[in-house]
Amino acid sequence: EEIEKGGFDHFMLKEIYEQPRAIKDTFRGRLRPNEGIIKMAGVDQNLERLLNANRIIIAACGTSWHAGLVAEYIFEDLARIPVEVEYASEFRYRNPVITDKDVLIAISQSGETADTLAAIKLAKERGAFVFGVCNVVGSSIARETHAGAYTHAGPEIGVASTKAFTTQITVLTLLALKLAQEKGTYSKSRFREILTEIEGIPHKVEKVLESNPLIEIIAAAYKDASNFLYLGRGYNFPVALEGALKLKEISYIHAEGYPAAEMKHGPIALIDEHMPVVVIATKKGHYEKVVSNIQEIKSRKGKIIAVVTEGDVQVRELADHVIEVPECSESLSPLLTTIPLQLLSYHIAVMRGCNVDQPRNLAKSVTVE
Ligand code: G6P
Repeated sequence: EEIEKGGFDHFMLKEIYEQPRAIKDTFRGRLRPNEGIIKMAGVDQNLERLLNANRIIIAACGTSWHAGLVAEYIFEDLARIPVEVEYASEFRYRNPVITDKDVLIAISQSGETADTLAAIKLAKERGAFVFGVCNVVGSSIARETHAGAYTHAGPEIGVASTKAFTTQITVLTLLALKLAQEKGTYSKSRFREILTEIEGIPHKVEKVLESNPLIEIIAAAYKDASNFLYLGRGYNFPVALEGALKLKEISYIHAEGYPAAEMKHGPIALIDEHMPVVVIATKKGHYEKVVSNIQEIKSRKGKIIAVVTEGDVQVRELADHVIEVPECSESLSPLLTTIPLQLLSYHIAVMRGCNVDQPRNLAKSVTVE
């Protein structure tokens, strides 16, 4: 097992550090910036069906559901296709309206999650086209779907999902961009530009990983907190949810993720000097609005840990701690902003003596309802 961990103390840390490679493996062969195209066999063969979709329904659980939420922003923003994101476990018990004009995208690392499989079966019965995004080759979901695209994260051993999440976002971004290009919602030059930018993401993730020692220091300062709040807007709202989930899963600290502007409708009542608040405040995502949310936290003495764009000055003045990520388009920013939150949860869990790779009560794949 020590050999498998490749010199890291835990699988989770190894998998966090594998993300530059995992993301690259996921777009390798698919992304061709020079030709200005994206190649995805499962999409190319079913292009008509995908382009004619009235809407996309995304069904998933846990971290994969958060990847689905990021995808909702990407599909609507770039490809102008309406999207609904569903907890697979709720979807089928609602007698949902599904037609043969709908496309269901099922996202699952393991490809074995019972609730997601059941959602797929229901959608197929009602005539929808079902596209899978799985990590495990030949898994039940990969076999049950009409078409799909694999993430190439490699085996994920840590129960708390890390590299599966960022590679799911990578695949879904490629899919959305491909549909955007086919639909003509994206200019040719902007399309080439974003393909080149995606190619540069692994290097930017490496740069984020360099903040690990700083994040460890921040973790030491807050490891005894009983609650955490995570805030983000737009593309980074799902990242806030995922950050909170990671902390809950492995450190057993209660954490909530919220859209930053929703804070005033409830969570703000929780803020005092004992409440660490992690805020994603990158430059391109409603920055000024998030800055004013940060001011509201500060005036209530909450402790602010902010994820900011390199060189940021304004938030640095307000926050107790800042973690910088390289500049990038808002639509790609979750691939960077997620990383510090994974590391923060990891270090807090280790410092609290928790079993990081196998947290209590959780399973890597949930094959029962
Ligand atoms: C379990 C795991 C989570 C995972 C979720 C969905 O709860 O502990 O890490 O996100 O299942 O799993 P899937 O394999 O469908 O992505």
